[in-house]
Amino acid sequence: MNYGFIGAGNMASAIIKGMVKSGINSSDITVFNKSQQKADALKVECGVTVAGSQKELIESVDVIILSVKPQVLDNIIGTIKTDIGNKKPLIISIAVGKTIEYLEAGLGADNSIVRVMPNINAKVLMSTSGYCPNTLVTTEQEQIVEKLFATVGSVTKIPETMFSIFGVIAGSSPAFAYLYIDVLARAAQRAGMPKKQALEIAANTVLGSAKMVLESSEHPWELVDQVCSPGGTTIEGIYALEDNGFESTIVKAFDAVMAKDKAIQAKK
Ligand SMILES: NC(=O)c1ccc[n+]([C@@H]2O[C@H](COP(=O)([O-])OP(=O)(O)OC[C@H]3O[C@@H](n4cnc5c(N)ncnc54)[C@H](OP(=O)(O)O)[C@@H]3O)[C@@H](O)[C@H]2O)c1
Repeated sequence: MNYGFIGAGNMASAIIKGMVKSGINSSDITVFNKSQQKADALKVECGVTVAGSQKELIESVDVIILSVKPQVLDNIIGTIKTDIGNKKPLIISIAVGKTIEYLEAGLGADNSIVRVMPNINAKVLMSTSGYCPNTLVTTEQEQIVEKLFATVGSVTKIPETMFSIFGVIAGSSPAFAYLYIDVLARAAQRAGMPKKQALEIAANTVLGSAKMVLESSEHPWELVDQVCSPGGTTIEGIYALEDNGFESTIVKAFDAVMAKDKAIQAKK
């Protein structure tokens, strides 16, 4: 199986590094990028092949991963269709906001097309990726997608109608989590702990807490209760959070991202 990336920026590099780390042969990966330096850097770092042109890349691979910015995709989607010609590769797009309908209109509805949304944590192989296939995608092709994105984290199949919701809780929420970690560490800094140490402790604690939610069979509120001793210290913090709108603030942040996403979709 040969994989070809059109666009070799941040996300493509993260995915390629994950693929190579998980044992996919780097000789099975080809990249084409607008500026050759980035592609050459990946060649040096990961051993991938660099194609001289988009056409050359498309001719040599079985799976195409569209990893250019959404606005760039608008400009090149016609040339990609032309370069594909009668070939029927599996086409995967990671472009944010580009729907299956858009991809089928631009590339031809007779192609197997999968829309994937990875997140920035792919850089540390901890992406939470969601995917949605068009009707032509076979079970084997879905397995290819799942295997590919499993190299950079977890993968979930979701209906396209859920992409916006997925975008908030998997795409945007890393920014919320980074903020929470930083605020906690800054409070510790204010109380006298060196910031670097506080950041490490806060981040590791969030990591462990996420693992607890995933791996224990308990509901998050049961876990909260386990940390709160009767008359103890933590319950005071929980009350302060509730009193100051912690839950409603997060729901408002969720709604704000959804509203902006809806406004962007409506403009198209
Ligand atoms: N970053 C994220 O957290 C994230 C999360 C989910 C999805 N995505 C999606 O992933 C895609 C890539 O995002 P990114 O953050 O990796 O962006 P990026 O770092 O800017 O990478 C895009 C790459 O595309 C290259 N490029 C531009 N025009 C091209 C062309 N005509 N042919 C081939 N390559 C071309 C750029 O090269 P030059 O630098 O030479 O112009 C750049 O290396 C986007 O569609 C984005 O929506 C990103």
